[in-house]
Order: sequence, then structure tokens, then C-alpha cells
Amino acid sequence: MALRVPHPNLSSLLLLSLLTIASAKVFFEERFNAGWESQWVKSDWKRDENLAGEWNSTSGQWSGDANDKGIQTSEDYRFYAISAEYPEFSNKDKSLVFQFSVKHEQKLDCGGGYLKLLSGDVDQKKFGGETPYSIMFGPDICGHSTKKVHAILTYNDTNHLIKKDVPCETDQLTHVYTFILRPDATYSILIDNVEKQTGSLYSDWDLLPPKKIKDPEAKKPEDWDDKEFIPDPEDKKPEGYDDIPKEIPDPNAKKPEDWDDEEDGEWTTPTIANPEYNGPWEAKTIKNPKYQGKWKAPLIDNPDFKDDPELYVFPKLKYVGIELWQVKSGTLFDNVLITDDAEYAKQLAEETWGKQKDAEKTAFEEAEKKKEEEEKKEDPVDSDTEEDADDADDSEADSKTDAGEDGEAKEEDAHDEL
Ligand SMILES: *[C@@H]1O[C@H](CO)[C@@H](O)[C@H](O)[C@H]1NC(C)=O
Ligand SMILES: *[C@@H]1O[C@H](CO)[C@@H](O)[C@H](O)[C@H]1NC(C)=O
Repeated sequence: MALRVPHPNLSSLLLLSLLTIASAKVFFEERFNAGWESQWVKSDWKRDENLAGEWNSTSGQWSGDANDKGIQTSEDYRFYAISAEYPEFSNKDKSLVFQFSVKHEQKLDCGGGYLKLLSGDVDQKKFGGETPYSIMFGPDICGHSTKKVHAILTYNDTNHLIKKDVPCETDQLTHVYTFILRPDATYSILIDNVEKQTGSLYSDWDLLPPKKIKDPEAKKPEDWDDKEFIPDPEDKKPEGYDDIPKEIPDPNAKKPEDWDDEEDGEWTTPTIANPEYNGPWEAKTIKNPKYQGKWKAPLIDNPDFKDDPELYVFPKLKYVGIELWQVKSGTLFDNVLITDDAEYAKQLAEETWGKQKDAEKTAFEEAEKKKEEEEKKEDPVDSDTEEDADDADDSEADSKTDAGEDGEAKEEDAHDEL
């Protein structure tokens, strides 16, 4: 399949540089330019309850290029579910590269920024939290404890979390997340084109039972020496060591001049701790020359392990979806890409995020400065106004806390499902 050019207004420069990768197969690419809505289906999930959030087509409050739009969650305390279809494909014998950029303009305190790849037939109008997916990938933030990149793989109808911790970005700028799955069952997770984690599907997820297990029959040999340190047999107790008294008469003590032996009894010198006394004698310890290390049961082949050479294969990939709960809206997605070519993905990231990131940072800092100045200006002088403002602040904070707990509860539900 030739390179699919998703939208006509792709800059010609970008097109030229990307076309140089002739072998790249692009299964899906969405830059959210004009016309994106015809590619995506907004789900009716949670719409009856008035909890389905609307997307805003925008480059956001700060960006490196105001004309380069993405889609942003625009309402607080809402569920978001939207998906797009592409021609069904299998990643057998090729790499699967899944990439997108995400920016949390709202200083996200609890919410996801991940995308899902779905397989088979999905009723896109009903796409929601319960819809089975094949891969879920991207950042997830909730409170102080959850700030990680999710990489969930569905194998044999079970969702498996990655076992390695991959911290995500937490600032209010655009970042590119890339997941690469290779036919040799290795994977890489990149943030902003920098590899943050890599390894094997066999070891970093519990998709299959382990290849090797500890031999359950093995026993620690009776004569196994696992003492790392022993008393030095050469070390001898110095002669007279036990004769050193614990306490000695205080050499500075003097019998008081007005002491009356007849009335006060015989004067005895008070004692003090003997500085020469070092406690009971103990030999120095040395490294045990016969130390054999901690005993470990030998590993044997796991009889329950049956290899699956197609562990990495998702044979019917067909949709990409965003399904989120957001307490505070403002998460902006852009440049969703599914390809078999990691180099193509890298170049796309460089041509978009890479070219815009400095200008975006400047725009963000200016926006922050402006906000600060406005807040200063709005600082109320009249005491009545101040009180009103405080009340308003309180009720807002309260409702946020409530919703925050809901959000966390939902988060827990999501984790329970796994
Ligand atoms: C869409 O985003 C822009 C830029 O942040 C903002 O000015 C506008 O109010 C937003 N529209 C809606 C409907 O949220
Ligand atoms: C797949 O799932 C079934 C049912 O849960 C289970 O019996 C089987 O062992 C699983 N196979 C693998 C390879 O995990």
C-alpha cells in the first residue's frame, strides 16, 4: 500500500520529507485538519445522562502554530468517547507503531490521556468504557500516586497491564507518546522521540505463564553455608580482658570537708563508668571464605508454558478510539498515527511537535504571565466583593472535590476491570 495522504492541506515540505520513506505503510493518520469530523464517530455513550462531553477543534490556549488544530475536551465532569475506522489489518510479521500527541492545558489532576486500538466489529455509536479493546496506550494521571504511561495489551480476552513503571509527562505542554511492538516480541515506549522503556512481551507483561519456574522439588542442601560473615577464628581475646571493671571509683571525687563520719557514716568514693571497659569481648567478623551465597532453587522449564510465536499479533485491528472520563477538561489530542515504520513516526513527530515545541513553550509562558497579571488586577479591594468571591471559590472547590472522588472511584473501577 502506498503512503496515504490523509488531508490535502498537509504542508508540502512535510509531505516531501515523509515521502522519502518509501516503504512506510500508514494504516491511519489523523492530523485533525478541516474535515476530520467525517472520519470520526462521536459515541452516544453517556449522552442520555447528559454526561457526554463535547470536543473542541482548536490549537488550544497556547500553541506553536495556531493553525495546527487538534481536538480538545471542552466540558468538565464528562465522559468522552469518539472513534475512527481504518481498513482492517494484521501486524503479523511487521512492526506496529502507534503514536499521538497530547497536551493537558488544564493542569490535569485526575484523568487519562490515552488512546485505544480496537479490533473486529465495533458499533462506534455505542463505543464506551465497556467496549473491548486490543491495546490501550498513553498517559494517565490521578492525584500524586498515578502518573504513568499505560500500556495495556489484551491477550486471550484478558487485559494485561505492563509490569514496568513508565512515568508520564505532567506539565501543560504537548508531548508525543509512541508505542512500538515488533515481530520479535520486543517493544519500546517513547516520549518525545526518546525511548523511556523497552523490553520483551514475555517478561514485561504476564501474557503467558513464565517460561521458567523455580524447581518445586528442589531443597536447600543441609550443608549449604549461607552465612556471609563469621567471627574471625584468628582473633583472640586479649589477656586480662575480663578483668577490666565496668565501673571505677571517680578519681575526681573528694570527701566533702564538712563530712562527719560519725553522723554521716563512712564516706565511700562514688563510681563512674570505666572508659577502658568495652563490653563483653567479641571476635571481629570476617567474610566467610566458605560462603555459598543465598540458596536459590534451580530454574526448570515450566510445564504450563506453551509458547505463542504470534504473541505480538493483533490480527484484526480496525479502529482507534479515545475513551476518557475527565474531571477537568482541556486535554488536546493531535497527530494520531498507526504505521509499521518507526522512522516515519519519528519524522512526523519531529515535523510537528519538534518544530512547534519552542514556540509553544514561549506562548505558554506568556499566557501564564498574562493570567498572573489579570489575577493581580482582579484582586478585590472592596471587602464585600472579597467575601462573595471567597464564597464562590469555596463552593467551586467543594464540587470539584466531590467530582474528584467520583473520578477516582471511576479510575479504580477501570483498574478493577483489568
Ligand atoms: C475552544 O478552544 C478555544 C481555544 O482555547 C476557546 O477560545 C474556545 O472558547 C473553545 N470553545 C469551546 C466551545 O469550548
Ligand atoms: C486463555 O484463556 C482460557 C480461559 O480463560 C484459559 O483456559 C487458557 O489457558 C488461556 N490461554 C493462554 C495461552 O493464556
